[in-house]
Amino acid sequence: MIKFSFKDSLIKEREINKLAKKLRPEIEDMQEAELKEYNDDRASINLPDDLASLKNVKRVISECLKLNPDYLVVVGIGGSNLGTIAIQEAVLGKFYNQLDSKLKIFYVDTVDSDSFGDVLRILEPELKKGKKVIVNGISKSGKTTETIANFEILVNLIRKYDKNYEKYIVVTTDKFSPFWDLALDKAFNVLEIPRKIGGRYSVFSPVGLFPLGMLGINLERLLRGAREMKKICLNENIMKNPAAMSAAIEYANYHDGKHISNLFLFSSDLESIGKWNRQLFGESLGKKNKGITPITSIGTTDLHSMLQLYLGGKNDKFTTFVSVKKGNTKLAMPKLSEYDLLVDDIQGKELADIMDTILLGVKASYKINKRPFISIEIPNKKAFTIGVFLQYKMMQTMYLGFLLGVNSFNQPDVEKYKEETRRILRR
Ligand code: PA5
Repeated sequence: MIKFSFKDSLIKEREINKLAKKLRPEIEDMQEAELKEYNDDRASINLPDDLASLKNVKRVISECLKLNPDYLVVVGIGGSNLGTIAIQEAVLGKFYNQLDSKLKIFYVDTVDSDSFGDVLRILEPELKKGKKVIVNGISKSGKTTETIANFEILVNLIRKYDKNYEKYIVVTTDKFSPFWDLALDKAFNVLEIPRKIGGRYSVFSPVGLFPLGMLGINLERLLRGAREMKKICLNENIMKNPAAMSAAIEYANYHDGKHISNLFLFSSDLESIGKWNRQLFGESLGKKNKGITPITSIGTTDLHSMLQLYLGGKNDKFTTFVSVKKGNTKLAMPKLSEYDLLVDDIQGKELADIMDTILLGVKASYKINKRPFISIEIPNKKAFTIGVFLQYKMMQTMYLGFLLGVNSFNQPDVEKYKEETRRILRR
């Protein structure tokens, strides 16, 4: 399981006890939400228990795999792709496509003709050669401008190379959204997002499960991790509930002027978890003139770009360090003593040990400069562990929203830009 250390949060026990009391009714509501299936705003905590949905997703996966696809293109934006990218890169690595992958994956989100054009320049010659491409269009609302624009272009391309193209298309959306109706009309495969599940909480729904399962990620283990963490984060005793505890600590630090929350990930493959977390914090908490600005840093890379600011700049940041106990690859240095002249004491050492030592050095500097932080160590980057971590983060966000007094489940201002765009397009 994941290890948490809260001892460097710089929040006094008295303050934590006060916030624990404040959180009590919300923990009770969360416990009740567990019994209400999809009839509560917090319903995403129940996604990992939805065996019927998992079975349906696996049925569509097995039908799609029978087509022997070479490429999977996920068309979706925000909550409709960030969680999938986060899990894919954590479990399979950032260089998955370049390694020995049978099914390559592309994500198309924004309407950028250059980058989407590059994807099409890769796909079209492959289609000409008879290679197969599955397109998964994902939109909860079923009417996000970017997603629908990109989806149309891709479907049009697939149609050029196979007149029975419908079987290569999978639509993931809310039941009875305009996208749902279109998919049924065209005989595409359709997967349902339960109505109460908001985009940024949807990674354990078919939104994430279909593409991740297509890539061979073990969905049962992913969901088991999420389920086990849910149980822990329903504990009324905040000392045994890391989601509630870290929400209390973030909140207390926010009140102490730490308006920026830095998720400092000491693993390059976790970078997209940082991007997913930005949406989670940003959209859930940024309301009523309140909000914690989420940022992401990668260790050790960003020590060489941002650390000066973090340690010496304005003391307005709270940091969560995340490290991985055991990576997938062991890389050790050769023993070349002539290099001692350049850097002492690293000959023959494993890179993972050097990384750990650097992290220790960083934390020591944070302590000296009185910059608050918590530490999380995940045992590995396997599906189970990543399921645990993402569930923890989503429940932490919900507890934090409660403490801040905001609705963690809507995004009225995102809807505003979408509506304004549609209005201007109509002109
Ligand atoms: O979390 C959210 O609800 C949003 O960020 C959405 O995920 C994003 O705007 C995409 O919306 P949709 O899935 O409806 O296309």
